[in-house]
Amino acid sequence: MNMNGETMSGIKGKAIMITGASSGIGEATAFRLAAAGAKLILGARRTDRLQDIVSSIESHGGEAIYAKTDVTSRNDLSSLVQLGCERFGKLDVLINNAGIGPISPLDELRVEDWEATIDVNTKGVLYGIAAALPIFREQGFGHFINIASTAGLKTVANQAVYSGSKFAVRAISEGLRQEAGSRIRVTVISPGVVQTNFIDGIPNREVKDQLTTVRDGLGLPAEAVAGAIAFAIEQPAGVDINEIVIRPTAQV
Ligand SMILES: NC(=O)c1ccc[n+]([C@@H]2O[C@H](COP(=O)([O-])OP(=O)(O)OC[C@H]3O[C@@H](n4cnc5c(N)ncnc54)[C@H](OP(=O)(O)O)[C@@H]3O)[C@@H](O)[C@H]2O)c1
Repeated sequence: MNMNGETMSGIKGKAIMITGASSGIGEATAFRLAAAGAKLILGARRTDRLQDIVSSIESHGGEAIYAKTDVTSRNDLSSLVQLGCERFGKLDVLINNAGIGPISPLDELRVEDWEATIDVNTKGVLYGIAAALPIFREQGFGHFINIASTAGLKTVANQAVYSGSKFAVRAISEGLRQEAGSRIRVTVISPGVVQTNFIDGIPNREVKDQLTTVRDGLGLPAEAVAGAIAFAIEQPAGVDINEIVIRPTAQV
């Protein structure tokens, strides 16, 4: 670690909460920010994985805590924010990253998947905002980073509900930005295809096989998205990176 670089980075010493930190983009972001000197508050449902990530961060001299968090529970998100504030005395950044993508053709009427997608991807972000916004107001600073998707910019067949959940994240983020005032930053990160296990839960075999081929062929490493997140955080307080779209070069 380069001490001079850390001091100038705008990441060192920040208390940063990440939802969906147990794998993929959230996990890569936790390691990236910990290496830059952030103090992490990690949430997800798989606590065994969170424990391993925290142990690894600590073994490299970093600081991190975790709590079992289901973003479909408003209480869980409030508790995680509270835990972070108690431990670190403040919350600088909330990264609303948790998400699911059980995509399928609408004709299959997988209504439970539709509900879960909205509950996690859209309502989960709203619960994160509800938990952190009063703290950010009281502190007089704060930064929301909401993970959307290129599916939140353009809808394609079989992804109607997932895409809708991510369009909503972008709309809510833009409204939040306009209401946030001069001291709270709001960033949307819209990744294209990323090499994570995100598509493992796709119930439709044909759709899953198609996306697996694309992911394995051209997907971005999760670390690339972590880098975009770090870029938004490390800007000076008066610089608000509002939206980053990050795709593999080969993605249409
Ligand atoms: N991979 C891609 O191609 C891609 C592209 C664009 C956008 N994204 C977005 O990137 C974000 C992260 O996805 P990823 O690619 O890193 O996939 P991932 O490895 O499957 O990570 C998803 C994370 O969300 C968590 N999660 C799921 N349901 C949750 C719930 N109810 N409460 C709390 N946490 C929950 C999971 O943790 P637990 O299971 O332990 O709770 C996991 O840590 C998502 O918002 C996704 O929509 C991904």
